[in-house]
Amino acid sequence: MPIEWLERERQLHLYNDRMSYIMRVLGSGTLAHLYFGPRLATGRDYAHFVRNSYVARFNRVLDPVALELPTAGSGDFRVPGLTVRHADGSTVLDLVYRSHEIHPGKPPLDGLPSTYVEHDAEADTVEICLVDGNSSMRVRLLTTIYADRPVVTRSLRVINEGPTDVKLTTAMSAVLDLPDADWHLLQLTGAWGRETHIVDAPLVAGERGVRSQRGTSGHQQNPFLLLHRPATTEAAGEAIGMSLVYSGNFRAEAEVDAYGTVRARVGLDPETVRWHISAGMDLQIPEAVLVWSDEGIGGVSDAYHRLYRERLASGSWRDRPRPVLVNSWEGVYFDFDEDALVEMASAAKELGAELFVLDDGWFGQRDDDTSSLGDWTVDLRKLPSGLPDLVERINELGLLFGIWIEPEMVSPRSRLFELHPEWAVGFPGRPRSEIRNQYVLDMANREVVDYLERVIGSVLSSAPIAYVKWDHNRVITEPYSTSLPAERQDEFFHRYMLGVYDLYSRLTERFPDILFESCAGGGGRNDPGMLAFAPQVWTSDVTDAVERQHIQYGTSLVYPLVAMGAHVSAVPNHQTGRTTPLDTRAAVAFFGNLGYELDPRALDEVELEAVRAQVAWYKEHRELLHHGRFHRLVSPFEGDGNETAWAVVADDRSAALVGWYRTLSRPLPGPKLLRLRGLDPAARYRVRVWPPADDWVVRANESERGGDELMQQGLFLDDHAWESQRRGDFQARIFELDLVP
Ligand code: DGJ
Repeated sequence: MPIEWLERERQLHLYNDRMSYIMRVLGSGTLAHLYFGPRLATGRDYAHFVRNSYVARFNRVLDPVALELPTAGSGDFRVPGLTVRHADGSTVLDLVYRSHEIHPGKPPLDGLPSTYVEHDAEADTVEICLVDGNSSMRVRLLTTIYADRPVVTRSLRVINEGPTDVKLTTAMSAVLDLPDADWHLLQLTGAWGRETHIVDAPLVAGERGVRSQRGTSGHQQNPFLLLHRPATTEAAGEAIGMSLVYSGNFRAEAEVDAYGTVRARVGLDPETVRWHISAGMDLQIPEAVLVWSDEGIGGVSDAYHRLYRERLASGSWRDRPRPVLVNSWEGVYFDFDEDALVEMASAAKELGAELFVLDDGWFGQRDDDTSSLGDWTVDLRKLPSGLPDLVERINELGLLFGIWIEPEMVSPRSRLFELHPEWAVGFPGRPRSEIRNQYVLDMANREVVDYLERVIGSVLSSAPIAYVKWDHNRVITEPYSTSLPAERQDEFFHRYMLGVYDLYSRLTERFPDILFESCAGGGGRNDPGMLAFAPQVWTSDVTDAVERQHIQYGTSLVYPLVAMGAHVSAVPNHQTGRTTPLDTRAAVAFFGNLGYELDPRALDEVELEAVRAQVAWYKEHRELLHHGRFHRLVSPFEGDGNETAWAVVADDRSAALVGWYRTLSRPLPGPKLLRLRGLDPAARYRVRVWPPADDWVVRANESERGGDELMQQGLFLDDHAWESQRRGDFQARIFELDLVP
């Protein structure tokens, strides 16, 4: 049993082979946090980890004592984990331990996505009951440790057992108090088109963190933070990840206090998410996933990749090879008819694609983005014989068919808005911001969710649809739901997310064979909450091969390659105007979930041949790409950012694929080596280079090489001045390594 309870010491020790997480009930009844780190011995009393003599003498909590669920108003002055306002206006919440239960397995959370187990032996959970002696507030704190993963998950349910209502004003899913501040904080920050850029800096006194108040987790910040020691690298050293399984307004931050300790917390954004807990009611708070690793930042990423693809993603597509797709968006945008789509699909089939996706523009009268969202009936001007006929024609080509929807939105120019203006988010009579010419539907209103289930359900059941791209193209402004009373308006943002999760649950249950891909103008809602329903995400609207290196590199901190939609598009690139070689575009997109976002009819013979070869190459390697261990080798966020490199190594180390990318060609680049990681040092590998070429890099590398030398000395990169000059900017190479038996 990996959860030990020492009765006399009142100490809970969660452990597996790699790590320990220790809590303890202080004399006052407060639940203290003692430790999160490498495995410690069981059967021992760790009372001395509580390093505050005041606590020992007076049994009162005072900062900097490390706490599991800190509240405000009783002597702890750091950022809190939970705050309330009682009916009498007071805000003191003195939570003390009442009891606990240890269970094998991991329970699901009511109405919220979470990581899971398939067998009880995979994890153990302790459920701790905390109560406030002066009110009737109770908290059910769930902490789970996985047996074979360096992962602890946290969530809580806040229960009001009293006769009066309580306002929940702060609800963090996890708080992690660490005894020193010698950490760097890494966050994933960006904007539309440059999502998940890495920002990494030492902690200093005060608070630093990320948040969203946009109604989605957002392009700007990801619900994640990582703490690492100054000397930690990708491959070695201590690092801690905190990731939130949530898709709406969140807060993730770290505070260094006056005593040089750290409090990190992740949870609901306290400024925009509050909850009125009526007498006798409760609220489930989302789950946070904590990872500890002494294998560097890469060790944290590896734990998230495995957990999220194996025990967060769910459904029939979780373990299946994901189809190579051609998406119509950048190829034809809104301008198509049935024959054009069938011609595109037929050309896609020739390339080896497996799925044709009809993006925006197929419904209502949508010739541009100014109308029709909400009117989910096929546009007979463009598709006169309807969706079933189109799907049949595409299926006959031997392709699966997929479709784009944006269910949470409504256009002011739509039949739905004429009928139900009150379903759009906003206060009736007050101006509402139109963004991308659209309003947001009030997903906090159950009527809206029921309606969407009906209309989207009827689209999905009208034809054999194999894939759905679920988009969300604007932020939420003027938050207000006509379905909520005044005292519940500050619940809107969370209720919105609960409505989205509800709709996702209903549709994924009803259509278990459909592969869902989530999207929010690219990576505006790329988070673990979405991954629970849609096992892949459209990572970014930017398909430029240079920008994508940054985006995919940053995304890989948390999210597995199999979840990362990565498409090859036409040049000049529609977002940056840059022209990059076709093979470079593919070499970046290979390290993700491959698709083509272009009109395949527009490719010339040479390009057709090249794309056919790319798709064939990818199919041969996708199992390894999607299930191997990902290693980041050279960061585009470091140095002058001119190079990026990464690799995927098979779990049994029998094969590896290495991607190396150079943005600008420079004169006389000098000898360059790329050291690999994760290979078997005693093995020999046959090295091949993709794309095939007759040049120095190929000649220098294509041979049998030892795993040891590939890791200690490395692959040879362009060191030949003339070849570098000949090849020019935006180059990429893929090195394929196969074990020599
Ligand atoms: C934004 C998405 O990210 C694009 O890929 C495309 O689907 C458009 N929306 C369609 O409106």
